[in-house]
Amino acid sequence: MRAISQDEFGGPEVLREIDIPRPEPLPTEVLVRVVAAGINPVDAKTRAGGGVASILGEPPFILGWDVSGVVEEVGHGVHTLKPGDEVYGMPWFPRQAGGFAEYVTAPSRHFALKPTTVDHDAAAAVPLAALTAWQILHDAVHITAGQRVLIHAAAGGVGHFAVQFAKAAGAHVTGTASAAKHDWLRKIGADEVIDYRSTRFEDVTSDQDIVVDLIGGDNAVRSIQVTKPGGTVVAVPGGVSPELATAAEQRGVTAIPFLVEPDGRALTEIAALIDAGKVHVEVEQVFPLSEIKAAHERQESSRAQGKLVVHIAP
Ligand SMILES: NC(=O)c1ccc[n+]([C@@H]2O[C@H](COP(=O)([O-])OP(=O)(O)OC[C@H]3O[C@@H](n4cnc5c(N)ncnc54)[C@H](OP(=O)(O)O)[C@@H]3O)[C@@H](O)[C@H]2O)c1
Repeated sequence: MRAISQDEFGGPEVLREIDIPRPEPLPTEVLVRVVAAGINPVDAKTRAGGGVASILGEPPFILGWDVSGVVEEVGHGVHTLKPGDEVYGMPWFPRQAGGFAEYVTAPSRHFALKPTTVDHDAAAAVPLAALTAWQILHDAVHITAGQRVLIHAAAGGVGHFAVQFAKAAGAHVTGTASAAKHDWLRKIGADEVIDYRSTRFEDVTSDQDIVVDLIGGDNAVRSIQVTKPGGTVVAVPGGVSPELATAAEQRGVTAIPFLVEPDGRALTEIAALIDAGKVHVEVEQVFPLSEIKAAHERQESSRAQGKLVVHIAP
């Protein structure tokens, strides 16, 4: 099968196509023929030696966690999926999944049936970003109706799902994004939008119950002052720095780190929301596998509206 590998850490130029044997599913695993694979910031970071490189170890390795495809074979013990099922998932994270390849094997419960109303390219855009938004809001901070939620980088992969899940939970949603993306963000559920390029968010918003910070560094520290005492700041990239911990303690705010994990059950709930028309998947661009380097370059720009996807099946 074709796959994208790398022999060293570095820029997109280290990525190269290789030909390797198709993997075999072990008991409790499924073999999935990958139709499309989503790309995320962690792919570009890990390629360069950051991200989860410390978990993957030295190259060679195959990046890619978001896959949508068709079950080809099931191992002994798999009861919930069968060959021919169309599935999507974020298998193995943060271990290697090898999503930028024609086939992957993984525990069956890392997958769910894909939403039926979108194609594989759009389904591949969902798992990592949507699970991040879902697990933050529902599992980490237990969002409830009427809460005020501020989402930084609301127009990105994670952000646009977080806006929609928070809205669906009955929250009042404020998002930060550049001005060109404001109309679209209002359409998908933001009650208020802040142009972070022209306005300091702390000058125009306050009293948030939850802040989902997808920027990191100083942005997370500044977010403490717009959070109510008793509220929570989720520091997604970079986690909780000593500076953030101190600022949070002084204001009586909780600052927490976050890491997404595989979750087939949540993906079933998310697929239902997509199929009911309650959640929209925004795909900015689909790249052929031969343009994987361009996909990494666009990902690294941190400017994408919604998600970027690589189409793998011929
Ligand atoms: N810990 C975890 O489990 C986990 C999981 C998922 C993601 N992450 C991390 O979370 C971050 C976001 O991921 P993502 O997939 O959503 O990234 P992304 O899709 O690449 O985000 C792109 C968006 O960021 C916006 N943006 C850039 N700088 C901004 C700023 N200063 N203020 C507001 N918006 C800004 C851009 O909007 P404009 O063009 O309008 O600026 C663009 O729409 C990344 O660092 C990623 O590694 C962590």
